[in-house]
Amino acid sequence: MDSAISRLKTYFLQTYGCQMNVYDSEILASLLEAQNYQPATAPEQADVLVFNTCCVRDNADQKVYGRLGDFKFIKAERPGQILVVAGCLAQKDGEAFLERFPQVDIVLGTHDVQALPELVQRVQAGEGRIVQVGRQGHHLDLPASPRGASSAMVPISMGCDQWCTYCIVPYVRGQLHSRPVVQVLAEVRRLVGLGYREIMLLGQNVNDYGRDLQPQVEFADLLEALGGLDAPDRLRFTSPHPAGFTPRVIQVMAANPSVCEHIHLPLQAGDDQVLARMKRGYTGQQFLDLVARLRQAIPDLGITTDIIVGFPGETEAQFQRTLEVVQQARFDSAFMFAYSPRPGTPGSLFTDQVPESERMERLYRLIHLQNGISEEKHRQRMGREVEVLVEGRSKKTSSRLTGRTRQNWLVHFDSEEDFSGRLARVRLDQAFMWGFVGTLLEVEPSAGS
Ligand code: SAH
Ligand code: SF4
Ligand code: F3S
Repeated sequence: MDSAISRLKTYFLQTYGCQMNVYDSEILASLLEAQNYQPATAPEQADVLVFNTCCVRDNADQKVYGRLGDFKFIKAERPGQILVVAGCLAQKDGEAFLERFPQVDIVLGTHDVQALPELVQRVQAGEGRIVQVGRQGHHLDLPASPRGASSAMVPISMGCDQWCTYCIVPYVRGQLHSRPVVQVLAEVRRLVGLGYREIMLLGQNVNDYGRDLQPQVEFADLLEALGGLDAPDRLRFTSPHPAGFTPRVIQVMAANPSVCEHIHLPLQAGDDQVLARMKRGYTGQQFLDLVARLRQAIPDLGITTDIIVGFPGETEAQFQRTLEVVQQARFDSAFMFAYSPRPGTPGSLFTDQVPESERMERLYRLIHLQNGISEEKHRQRMGREVEVLVEGRSKKTSSRLTGRTRQNWLVHFDSEEDFSGRLARVRLDQAFMWGFVGTLLEVEPSAGS
């Protein structure tokens, strides 16, 4: 009897890191499902367990090492289970995983995602443990099945050529590789046809999109081409780089009604010298000017950011400049990090590292400032009626639905019925640092009714 049907084969995927990894996990899941694997309810029970890892900061590495440690004992009770380490940490550590973790069967790099089913088969056939960590190749052409109810991701490029001095991403993701415009258009059309209301364009640095294509195209061309009749209700992209943000991108954002009134614009630091040492290519003032131009062109724009404190050499006065820029930019929310030296990056070689206690202390001060701004901005919006794309049930309170506005504000509201994937009109009643609790006013009819 065919072993594929004699017993149900299962997989479990644990994803760490950014949206590109979430997307890669969709591909890994699709590849396994094409081999008749089905999702397992718990990692312990899966025949194939995949950790799709991140290594952007040391605490990301440690999380994975810790979790792999747990599986030393779990695997002892389930010897047939195949344990796969994929993603950026797999790319960074390669062979070292096999030495350090005898329970790992497969190490799969970021350039070899499509090899997963074959490697699993080879291990099952008795080949022993396998490391496949190449340096070339991308998987822009592989089909992924979106897992969300309303939103789907579409990668427009993979890799990054910016080489910010703190960042490990270019080392583990390789150089920029853009997906041709026609392919992006076809994929967006396909997903809109399947009923996805929101499309998220993904790239490490979307402003660099198209530089490597023949003929060259710009990100603004792509955004413009995505307007029109079969455009999604909501179009988002992440992340743009402040240095390559052309006036045309702003124009197209303002002119294409699909493009959401939200931008994730990583600041990283406020001081010009620190920014230069990070190799970011803009000054604090240039960043603020860009924010002002965006807000002028796009009313009611939500702006979020990423900030690193305690980059090597950062003085107290230079950190103060970050606080100043944050105060002036008034972000809706921010991801804030203490600098983490990444082996192999120029930043890790700088001799003037800021002591960890200082980095943490600055981080707390920054978080305190930004949390106050987030809460205050949210409070000013109370009473407004907004459009929410419903994502699903709230994890904490099952009688609540959760979704986001076009500005990317998080909104929870009570509803017995599940309106996932639909647009709802909600009144914002209560404001918190994280977002809002509102009252449902109206839901659009479902596609079938
Ligand atoms: N490609 C995206 C995201 C890169 S990683 C971009 O350029 O915007 C996400 C965030 O992690 C970065 O924006 C940065 O704020 C942070 N980060 C990257 N390397 C870091 C490091 N070594 N230490 C602390 N934070 C880091
Ligand atoms: Fe890293 Fe800079 Fe590239 Fe972003 S733009 S992925 S921070 S090197
Ligand atoms: Fe992490 Fe890799 Fe993304 S290092 S942030 S998962 S590109």
